[in-house]
Amino acid sequence: MKASFSAPSNIAFVKYWGARDLARAIPYHPSISMTLSRCRSLCTVETRPAGEGDEVWLVDEQGGLRDPGEAFVRRVREHLDRLRRHFSAQEGLVVATRNTFPSAAGIASSASGFAALTITVAAALGREPGIQELSLLARRSGSGSAARSVLGGYVEWPRGEAEEECFAFELARARHWRLCDLVAIVQSGPKKVSSLDGHLGAASSPHFARRLELIPDRLERVRQAVRDRDLGTLGPVLEEEFVDMHCIAMSSRPPIFYWSPATLAVLERLRELRAAGREGWATMDAGANVHVICRPADESDLAEALAATPGVETVLRDYVGEGPQPLDEHLI
Ligand code: DP6
Repeated sequence: MKASFSAPSNIAFVKYWGARDLARAIPYHPSISMTLSRCRSLCTVETRPAGEGDEVWLVDEQGGLRDPGEAFVRRVREHLDRLRRHFSAQEGLVVATRNTFPSAAGIASSASGFAALTITVAAALGREPGIQELSLLARRSGSGSAARSVLGGYVEWPRGEAEEECFAFELARARHWRLCDLVAIVQSGPKKVSSLDGHLGAASSPHFARRLELIPDRLERVRQAVRDRDLGTLGPVLEEEFVDMHCIAMSSRPPIFYWSPATLAVLERLRELRAAGREGWATMDAGANVHVICRPADESDLAEALAATPGVETVLRDYVGEGPQPLDEHLI
């Protein structure tokens, strides 16, 4: 049996940062994200007889197969074992995957990657899990944000009092509000500190307890802004939230600094653009790149201005999207 799916990345409006149980990615508080459309992971999985083992491949631009390296293969294999146990399956699995965007650039490649892997393995094994089960399974990969990438549109991932209640759900469809995400890439190489290390240190910040107090109101403002399609409400919450998350990172022990000088240049330029009537609002994940959320009407002007900012390598243009989809062609 062979199956192929793609799953999108997502950009968090209220971030997952710090975990009650890091191995299973159980967060301290809910998070909310927008599913993207163009930044995707593509995945093909083929079953083979039990005993023949697993293979994991990265597909390059020309369709050739490359060894993804030990750390990547280990994480994928662990997830394959987890999925086999869950589905009571014995088959060996051959996995081939590629991203449509630069990996490890502060764009959530493990979110899209593990969402795509989870959905494709289930299909290749002939199983038809519901969306809640897929979200749970994607989360158990350890990449918590993958729990949100199995859904389209605007997505909330609750705190989940019990482990098996910790799955994401859709807040609103993509067509409800057509927002853009312009990603100003100022650092395209792999980030120096993984999100995993960030989660590990979060609770050591003396400001973390205060963050937990502030989150419920922020979540409510984001839910309301999405419901009302109100960028004037969403924007300031986005900026308050990403600065807060990065303050936690910077004050964790040991401290983590993701920003680069170009990050500040982009944020400064964005403020000028807003003052000139181009409404874009920033958010950042665990990296130096800046995501700018805006309406389609401002997309081109903002993308051009951001691309011309010193230190910006390129600007990826993405949009809210519908979620995972079957692929027309297998990767292998
Ligand atoms: C800053 O543990 O899901 O993006 O495995 O690197 O994708 P990756 O990260 P994960 O943590 C995500 C951290 C975040 C905020 C968020 O997406 O909620």
